Amino acid sequence: MEEQGRKGRRLLLFPLPLQGHINPMLQLANILHSKGFSITIILADNFNTSSNNIRANYPHFTFHTISDGISEDEKAKIDIDVLSLLSLFNEKCVPHFRKVLRELVLEDSNIVCLISDSILHFTKAVADRFKLPRLVLRTGGVCSLLIFAAIPLLRNKAYLPLQESRLEEAVEELPPLRIKDLPLFKTCNVDALYQVIEGMIRETKASSGLILNSFEQLEQFSMSKLRHDFPIPIFPIGPFHSHFPASSSSLMSQDQTSISWLDTRPPKSVIYISFGSVAAIEVNDFLEIAWGLANSNYPFLWVVRPGLICGSEWIELLPSEFLERVDGRGHIVKWAPQQQVLAHPAVGAFCTHNGWNSTLESICEGVPMICMPCFGDQMVNARYVSHVWKVGVQLENGLKRTNIENAIRMLMEEEEGKQIKERMLELKEKANLCLKPGGSSYESLRSLTSYISSF
Ligand code: UDX
Repeated sequence: MEEQGRKGRRLLLFPLPLQGHINPMLQLANILHSKGFSITIILADNFNTSSNNIRANYPHFTFHTISDGISEDEKAKIDIDVLSLLSLFNEKCVPHFRKVLRELVLEDSNIVCLISDSILHFTKAVADRFKLPRLVLRTGGVCSLLIFAAIPLLRNKAYLPLQESRLEEAVEELPPLRIKDLPLFKTCNVDALYQVIEGMIRETKASSGLILNSFEQLEQFSMSKLRHDFPIPIFPIGPFHSHFPASSSSLMSQDQTSISWLDTRPPKSVIYISFGSVAAIEVNDFLEIAWGLANSNYPFLWVVRPGLICGSEWIELLPSEFLERVDGRGHIVKWAPQQQVLAHPAVGAFCTHNGWNSTLESICEGVPMICMPCFGDQMVNARYVSHVWKVGVQLENGLKRTNIENAIRMLMEEEEGKQIKERMLELKEKANLCLKPGGSSYESLRSLTSYISSF
């Protein structure tokens, strides 16, 4: 009945056009659509991706594509500095977003609100202009959001800028983080980094509400601090992908041989390795991972995304000696159906860069992690995996083949690994329960839908 009452009420959703942000926004769209809302997605032209896959998979949504306003020259440079993309996006997309919002609001009096990625902070001023309530989706964890909010303090206390000699020191104000875990990006423009983060925090606090792809039982302590520091309505309704498994918003085509290959493997025997959609690693690190996998003697499924290895097209740098050694034991693909992979009974451990989606997906399938964070929130997520939830192990001393081999053996064979797996299964159970009637995310979603309906 309630859902009937929302028929025709339309929500505008505006994701940041990167895979790790599009996935949760589309999942949120599906969740809200199932509650009776009509959905319009505004997609900005992305510098390296096409939205055709997405449109095909979501015929029940209306799509509008706008320009991101960034020139070809600027895009060429952005390929090596994602942070600059975020900064430029917030500046250059403004007129294009304003134009489409004006048109949509004039056309349809049933538009209720805008839900924007938290990083797109410029949307606040535009939404205000059209008197449209604006909610924010934080696609990452609460733990890292609080660290981003603490950056002025970290600068005041001289933790930032980073000093090589202090990386192992604890950040006393933010346990269990060490200085090396602070969520920074390699960028030639540090001021732009601070501006994007400052804008995200300021305009999130000024928003009509914050939607989180997380759940109370996972980030209890961080959530209470968030509620104290961000006095706005807060809706932790995750994990999003568990509401609608297998609804894909992949921008790249997913290699289904991943699944047929896993089908031939014994239960819990395979190491799955992926670094998500943005991270890039050096050739030397790539080769150390390869030899760590080879020396572990476990079967592995490895996602080597074109662009993952700096200065290399794909896997042409793998030596023939390695390929002979792992023949039949290793399967390398360009992009996998990750959620299906993690849910497959053959997968025993996940070597991950700890993007928030990968971290949550691993928790929901109860797969213990070997953490190899690269930048930004991944560092914080990895520290929480290894030291707060204790459902994985972190490679503290860099990507060296012996560290990787030892971490795999520890997780797969030793008593410590057994305990990690037990804790992971407990956490998986909590993730399942929160979505059931009476569960925290279930109830929070009810609050969110009635809140949106009240606009
Ligand atoms: C980025 C940032 O790097 C990350 O730190 C932040 O939390 C979100 O934005 P990304 O690096 O792509 O994301 O990582 P992640 O958050 O893990 O998202 C990757 C998504 O792509 C996941 O939903 C995963 O299931 C999917 N994926 C990954 C695939 O579908 N196939 C693959 O082969 C690899």
